[in-house]
Amino acid sequence: MKKLTDYADCAGCASKFQAADLDLIMEGLQPAHVDDRILVDFRTSDDAGVYRWSADSALVHTVDFFTPIVDDPYIYGQIAAANALSDVYAMGGEPRTALAIVALPKDGPAPETVREIFRGGSDKLREAGVALLGGHTVTDPEVKFGYAVTGQVHPARVWTNAGARPGDVLILTKPLGTGIVVRATKFGRSTDTQLASAITSMVTLNSAAAAIAASETAGTIRACTDITGFGLIGHATEVAVASRTTLVFNSSQLPLLPGSAELAALNLPCGGRSNIRHFDQLSVGPDVTPELSLLCMDPQTSGGLLFSVAPESAARLVDRLVAAGVPAAAVGHVEARGSGTSFVSLV
Ligand code: CO
Ligand code: CO
Ligand code: CO
Repeated sequence: MKKLTDYADCAGCASKFQAADLDLIMEGLQPAHVDDRILVDFRTSDDAGVYRWSADSALVHTVDFFTPIVDDPYIYGQIAAANALSDVYAMGGEPRTALAIVALPKDGPAPETVREIFRGGSDKLREAGVALLGGHTVTDPEVKFGYAVTGQVHPARVWTNAGARPGDVLILTKPLGTGIVVRATKFGRSTDTQLASAITSMVTLNSAAAAIAASETAGTIRACTDITGFGLIGHATEVAVASRTTLVFNSSQLPLLPGSAELAALNLPCGGRSNIRHFDQLSVGPDVTPELSLLCMDPQTSGGLLFSVAPESAARLVDRLVAAGVPAAAVGHVEARGSGTSFVSLV
């Protein structure tokens, strides 16, 4: 009998579409409609779109769905939901409603299996306080599952990629390595405990981290993104470009999933290789191990939030996150970008 991950033709890159392809498609594309209520759209490579409803309320819009990355359907559903909700948290918003997006092969998994995917997703939405309103299903050679999510945010408290300032401290709220561990599992190279750690991280909502950060004084969080398919370096590059800064990461401070460093060399997903090709405005210091460089390019599923934080508040914020059980760490800082300097620096 086919396993759930057999319905995906790639292991470890949940989204097969690569940054280079996306650039080509979006090049020169104009907004469909000009409207001064659009606060954030696709042109700034942010996590989600934001549309102002009224003076004190804006809509956060996002969508995410992908092929199975684990064989347990209930866990796959949970990961898909946590991942789809994450872009709302990354904008400083609170998710409210969701629509399921489902693709199923003609001779796909049994109805009981599909029901378990839905149950995993629904349980995660319930945990987040999000109402499932409906959905849409199509036939497709691969299984795909996820959600379109809407959330709410105060227009003055949107976290975009553009606000990072020199001197800010960078805080990451989840360990790196999900793509590498998932791919290793596909080829029988990971242990059960390594996979279990990756799953625990992927099913964890970014809600607690976002709520704690949002409770800081306005202006403390200067920029935020979640770490997903483009890896730490790719999403950090988006922040650096949007805010015209350089992001510097201390490789020894980056939290890693257990076993991911040992698995890195043999198990980088193809999305990681395309991230290496695409996000090349990167400088790597002599003390950075090759495994760490790979982990920084690893496509993450349901990865953590990366905050750029006012320096005077950073240590306290890390303490608050850790006290709440969020595996957060200060992992670097932001510098002014001179001409010819890299977008991201790994030291
Ligand atoms: Co995102
Ligand atoms: Co996304
Ligand atoms: Co791939």
